[in-house]
Amino acid sequence: MRNYEKQILDGEGKDDYARYMRTDALLALQRTPEEVVHRDELLFQIVHQSTELWLKLAVSDLTEATARVPDGDLLPAAELLQRSALAIHVITEHLEMLRHLSPWDFQTIRTILGHGSGADSPGWRSLHKAGHGMARAFAVFAESRGLDVAELYRARRATPELQLVEAMIEWDERVSIWRVRHYKVLTRVLGNQSIGTQGTQVDTLAKLIEYKFFPQLWEVRTELTATGPMGDYHLADS
Ligand code: HEM
Repeated sequence: MRNYEKQILDGEGKDDYARYMRTDALLALQRTPEEVVHRDELLFQIVHQSTELWLKLAVSDLTEATARVPDGDLLPAAELLQRSALAIHVITEHLEMLRHLSPWDFQTIRTILGHGSGADSPGWRSLHKAGHGMARAFAVFAESRGLDVAELYRARRATPELQLVEAMIEWDERVSIWRVRHYKVLTRVLGNQSIGTQGTQVDTLAKLIEYKFFPQLWEVRTELTATGPMGDYHLADS
């Protein structure tokens, strides 16, 4: 009979769970109660650290999705993109935890951050790079196949091409929604006119909310409105 008490994996940790998940290393990554200047550092660090992990997955899935596009492997690409988008949704929900961070308590936490800022998040930077990689791969694919995205929408058929562009739009939208929530956290915790630990005024981050990775896919919406039955509601025609 199997002895489930016996640990069978190599590695550090008292049991197989600790050895595979590397929980000793993971749980040692937060400042200890002796080190912290404020008890909410734990909340602050855990939201940031877990975000980095989810971003790692989001980037990995997006990169894999991008690699499928040149071969026309569009359905797997769309599925991977959806998973990447869901990871971004998950980190957006993480920001909810910061509702419990009081603006006055954060003033104490800020004193020990140096010039450290989420603007230097390695996960966020990789996400940007990977997002642009997907935009390039799609542009090359669309060009080589003579793809007319507006026609995909008019045809209303659930083709792999349509599923991919919808997954791309969702991904782009999720990034923007993260930025909305992050901006709201900032204004709530720091105030609109304040300056971040990297010298950026909080209000300037509002402009980034409109940033688009796949602008052509958004422009198609305008094109559909302009050429639809209510086309005279389009600015260019007024
Ligand atoms: C109390 C919570 C937070 C505050 C007060 C805050 C503050 C700021 C500020 C002021 C900036 C502008 C750059 C600067 O001068 O520092 C910024 C940018 C940024 N922060 Fe945060 N942040 C918070 C939470 C988070 C979390 C949980 C993450 C997740 C990793 C994060 C990621 C980022 C990113 C990626 C940027 C670049 C902005 C962009 O590209 O849209 N922040 N943050």
